[in-house]
Amino acid sequence: MRAQAYERVWLAICGVMLVAFLGAIAVTTFVLGHQLPGHAERIDPAHIARDPRFATPGLVEVGPGRYDAYMVAHIWSFQPSELRLPQGARVSFHVVSPDVTHGFEVVGTNVNGMVIPGYVTHLEHRFDRPGEYLILCNEYCGAGHQFMQARIIVE
Ligand code: CUA
Repeated sequence: MRAQAYERVWLAICGVMLVAFLGAIAVTTFVLGHQLPGHAERIDPAHIARDPRFATPGLVEVGPGRYDAYMVAHIWSFQPSELRLPQGARVSFHVVSPDVTHGFEVVGTNVNGMVIPGYVTHLEHRFDRPGEYLILCNEYCGAGHQFMQARIIVE
């Protein structure tokens, strides 16, 4: 079977598009560090206060330059409201909500996820630039949504 010239052209265009789209996925994943929020871990929203990680949320150093940040997003604030990190710290965020769906965005980074009651939202970032980073809720969560923020200070 011989393909017509226009069929070969279309096949070539499809091949180029396939390579370009797979390449875009590879670049955003491996070069830009985009990641899907992991929703593998579940938590009963009614039991968050009894979970030792979230009863006293905050930073835990787990290795040289590596931290776990346990945070609770609730109407209408984040707990804790401030995190202090050394420059170059690699942080695993674990965020939960006891009430409604919130957002968790660290402005100027790739950290941007939904915090859904019943799940532990897991996101990671390395803070190479010193300065102040704003954490915002970017899911409308009620009358005080616009006041819902926290900050990260990298020194
Ligand atoms: Cu929480 Cu908007």
